[in-house]
Amino acid sequence: MYKHVLGVGATLLSGALAQNQTVFFPAEYSYLLPDGFVGGNTSTQFLTSTSTGNSTIDSLIKSAANASFIALDPDFYNIFGPNPQLELAAHSDFDDFYEAGAWDPKRGRVWFSGSVSEKDWHLFVYDLNTRQVTTPETSLPILAPNGGYYWNDKVYICDFGNQTFASSIIAVDPDTGNSEYVVNSFFGLHLNGPDDVNWVKKNGKAYMFFTDPYYASALNISGPAVLPDGIWRLDPASQDLQAVISRADVLVPNGVAVDANMTKLYVTDTAGTTIPPDFQPAYASSGSAAIYVYDFDEEVRPVNKRLFAYSRSGIPDGIKVDDLGRVWTGEGDGLVIRNTVGKVIAIVNAVALGISAVTNFAIAGDVLVIGGYQNLWLTRSKILQNPACNMIIILLVPDHPVPYTTYSAGRTTRHVW
Ligand SMILES: *[C@@H]1O[C@H](CO)[C@@H](O)[C@H](O)[C@H]1NC(C)=O
Ligand SMILES: *[C@@H]1O[C@H](CO)[C@@H](O)[C@H](O)[C@H]1NC(C)=O
Ligand SMILES: *[C@@H]1O[C@H](CO)[C@@H](O)[C@H](O)[C@H]1NC(C)=O
Ligand SMILES: *[C@@H]1O[C@H](CO)[C@@H](O)[C@H](O)[C@H]1NC(C)=O
Ligand SMILES: *[C@@H]1O[C@H](CO)[C@@H](O)[C@H](O)[C@H]1NC(C)=O
Ligand SMILES: *[C@@H]1O[C@H](CO)[C@@H](O)[C@H](O)[C@H]1NC(C)=O
Ligand SMILES: *[C@@H]1O[C@H](CO)[C@@H](O)[C@H](O)[C@H]1NC(C)=O
Repeated sequence: MYKHVLGVGATLLSGALAQNQTVFFPAEYSYLLPDGFVGGNTSTQFLTSTSTGNSTIDSLIKSAANASFIALDPDFYNIFGPNPQLELAAHSDFDDFYEAGAWDPKRGRVWFSGSVSEKDWHLFVYDLNTRQVTTPETSLPILAPNGGYYWNDKVYICDFGNQTFASSIIAVDPDTGNSEYVVNSFFGLHLNGPDDVNWVKKNGKAYMFFTDPYYASALNISGPAVLPDGIWRLDPASQDLQAVISRADVLVPNGVAVDANMTKLYVTDTAGTTIPPDFQPAYASSGSAAIYVYDFDEEVRPVNKRLFAYSRSGIPDGIKVDDLGRVWTGEGDGLVIRNTVGKVIAIVNAVALGISAVTNFAIAGDVLVIGGYQNLWLTRSKILQNPACNMIIILLVPDHPVPYTTYSAGRTTRHVW
C-alpha cells in the first residue's frame, strides 16, 4: 500500500546522549515574578518574552528557553526519566508532519497529515520498527487530511474535502488501504470540515466523537460553512448523528481526546486573541484559547463542562490523555503536559525545537512522536522508573512561521490547526 519512502532514520546526534537537555524551572515562577518584570503577550512565548531584572532568575529563564525539556514538577522525571534526549530520525522537504498523530499500536506506526500549506497534501506514516516514512495509498481519495485516530483496527481520518467533495471522516484499513466514508452529511448539509476524531466505548457501544469547526471554509478549501461549529457524536449501531456540544459552549472546537477509562472528554477551543480578526471575526474577542473537560452522562453525552486550562501562548491544538490521566496539548510554548488537576508539569520546548508551535503528536506506547513539519527527530531517555515514554521523536522545521500570525485570507501559504 505504500508508494514511496520519504526519509529514513536515524542519525544519532553526536554527543547528544551526554548533554543535559532538561532544565528544572520552579513552578512558582509561572505565577510570581519580581516587581517590575517585563512580560509578553499571548502571541509570544513565555520563556522568550519574559525578563525580571533579577540576574539569577533571568539566567534561568534564558537557559530554559534554550532547553528541549522544561521540568516544572518532579513528575516530569516519571514521564521522561532523568535525561531525555533528541535524535534526528528523518527529513522531508515539505511540512509533512503536522496534524493527526494517530498511533496504530498493532503495527507500531504513527499516522500524520501534512500541512495545508503544501500542494501535495496527504498522509504520512512513520514506522517505529523500520524507521521509515511512507505515504499510504488509499482506495478513496483523501483530499485534505487533518486529525486522525486509530480504532478497532482502522485509522479514522478527518478530510476537509474540496469545493465539490464534501468534507468527511474516512475509515482506512492500515494493511490494504481500503477506505470507506463514515460520515459526510447532516441531513444533506455539508459538514464544515471535521478537524479531529476520537472513539469512546460505553455500555457496550462505540461512539465516534468529532469536532467540526469552520476552518476548511475559512481557508477556502471546502465550500461555505453552513452548520454552526460543534462537536458531534456518531452512534453507528443506532445510526444516529447528533450535535452534542454547541458553539455556545465551545466556540471553535479543534482537538478532542478521551481518558483511558473513557470517563472524561477533553476538547481544545482554538478561539482566542491570537487568531487574526480577518480570519476569525467574532471569535477573537469572545472565545478563549482553552481546554475544557466534560464527564459523560448515562446517554454518553458530554455534561458538566469545566475549564481545565488556558494556554499561555497561541492556541491549544492537538490533545491526548496518557494512561495516568495527564493531559498533553500542542500549544505555542510547545508540547505542554498537565497533571490530572491541570498543573503544568512539563514542556517540550517549541523554541528549542526551532518551531513556533506544536500542532500535533502521538503518545505511541512508551514513545512520544511530535509532529514538527520537516525534520524527524528521535530521542531516547535513560532508565525510567515509571515511563509514559522512553523515547521522543520530534518532527520539526526550523524557523517555521507562527501559523496564526502569518495567515491572511487570499494568500497561497495557508495553515490549519
Ligand atoms: C539536568 O539538569 C537539571 C537541572 O536543570 C537537573 O535537575 C537534572 O538532574 C540534570 N540531569 C542529569 C541527568 O544530570
Ligand atoms: C505581542 O508581542 C510581540 C512582540 O513584542 C509584538 O510584535 C506583537 O505585536 C504583540 N501582539 C499583540 C497582539 O499585542
Ligand atoms: C533574585 O532572585 C533570587 C531567587 O528568588 C533571590 O534569591 C535573590 O535574592 C534575588 N536577587 C535580588 C538582587 O533581588
Ligand atoms: C542553545 O543550545 C545550543 C545547542 O545545545 C547551543 O549551541 C547554544 O549555544 C545555546 N544557546 C544559548 C544562548 O545558550
Ligand atoms: C475535488 O476532488 C475530486 C476528487 O479528486 C475531483 O474529482 C474534483 O475535481 C475536485 N474538485 C475541485 C473543485 O477541485
Ligand atoms: C476559493 O477557491 C476557489 C476554487 O479553488 C477559487 O475559484 C476561488 O477564487 C477561491 N476564493 C478565494 C477568495 O480565494
Ligand atoms: C481508571 O479507573 C481505575 C478503576 O476505577 C482507577 O483505579 C484509575 O485511577 C482510573 N484512571 C484514571 C486515569 O482515572
